[in-house]
Amino acid sequence: MLFVCLGNICRSPTAQAVFQHCVEQAGEEANIGVDSAGTIGAHIGNTPDSRATQAALARGYDLSPLRARQVNSSDFERFDYILAMDEQNLSHLRWMQPQDFGGHLGLFLEFHPQAPVTEVPDPYYGDGDGFNEVLDLVEEASQGLLRALGET
Ligand code: 4NP
Repeated sequence: MLFVCLGNICRSPTAQAVFQHCVEQAGEEANIGVDSAGTIGAHIGNTPDSRATQAALARGYDLSPLRARQVNSSDFERFDYILAMDEQNLSHLRWMQPQDFGGHLGLFLEFHPQAPVTEVPDPYYGDGDGFNEVLDLVEEASQGLLRALGET
């Protein structure tokens, strides 16, 4: 499972940590690998945005071990599911996608049972509340994703 946003410092590391927590709660960590990446390289090697780290920690998720990286062509060999946070990043991934990729490439919020929006809004330039909105969306979508994987 690979989650992808723009910088890999706000939304996708949050999705990685929340979904990893869901996977562990379900005892599926040996079966489901979880990672995240960004479509731009501007933040490679950086820790997640401190606002994302703080908001996640308040809900019990630890983002501090994570480091940003850029998505690359081998990700299409390593992952069966590549889920983008928004349409812009999905377009970028579709453009990168090798012709023989047989996995699922789509939007993460397709798995949210009652998504009020189709994209996880970019919280980077907004006020701090955006990070809690990201967490609300990501928690619901993670539960939905785990349920969907159990049905396949
Ligand atoms: P993310 O947020 O894609 O959720 O990690 C952003 C991080 C960095 C930038 C934009 C969004 N940036 O423009 O550097």
